[in-house]
Amino acid sequence: MTKIKGIILAGGDGTRLKPMTDLISKQLLPIYNKPMIFYPLSVLIKAKIKDILIITKPNEQDSFKKILGNGSKWGVNIDYIIQNKPRGIAEAYILAEDWLKNSRSLLILGDNLFFGHGLNSLIRKTLKKKNGATIFAYQVSDPHRYGVVTLKENGQIKNIIEKPKKTKSSWAVTGLYYYDESASRIVKDLKPSKRNELEITDLNNKYLKSGNLDVELLGKGIAWLDTGTPDSLLEAANYVKIIESRQGLLIGNPQHD
Ligand code: G1P
Repeated sequence: MTKIKGIILAGGDGTRLKPMTDLISKQLLPIYNKPMIFYPLSVLIKAKIKDILIITKPNEQDSFKKILGNGSKWGVNIDYIIQNKPRGIAEAYILAEDWLKNSRSLLILGDNLFFGHGLNSLIRKTLKKKNGATIFAYQVSDPHRYGVVTLKENGQIKNIIEKPKKTKSSWAVTGLYYYDESASRIVKDLKPSKRNELEITDLNNKYLKSGNLDVELLGKGIAWLDTGTPDSLLEAANYVKIIESRQGLLIGNPQHD
């Protein structure tokens, strides 16, 4: 089986969470009883991905290394590289090109929390796909805050627009993406957007134009939580607390099931 690698992007300034993020990376802030990054890390580990790259800001890499180490305690290999400036999610594929060595990959944003039944089997099904890319969409009440995918009647993708002012679609593109080995090559041809970032939406649109992009819709049984503001951080922590206390099970625990 071809090796599929995992990337966690944990850069960014966490501006809306200042002053908490003045000293601590946003992705290391606690969500109830674990650092935020444990949750995306556990998604990759449960998908049986063994090689994981964590991309951080230059001055934060050491803190991630202290907390996560080389991954051996969870039976995975964790490597680290630096993103010098927040030049966009898609830049991950330029930074990670040598590390990827032409592998397919699952990219997850270090501040995106996914929980729920069916997610792991959906991801494992997706990882079997040899060519193209897959995005995962989730129905939200405030789509203008995200990349938004509009679907055709037959369920195929009509378009994807980054933070549209107006949209009829409520399907947000979540921070979980699967790409074949062409991603780094395609990103090199992208131009920075108005906010001076290499947009992941532009990469997805390239795959869409060549007929190589699929979408998986995350159903009601799955929760996708945001952690960008103090309110959403607290809500995510409460969510984890409620489920863990009720079921006596840990969620976001980076172990194989
Ligand atoms: C980014 C992406 C957006 C996606 C979101 C998911 O937004 O650009 O398409 O919906 O992550 O969290 P940003 O965090 O850059 O505002």
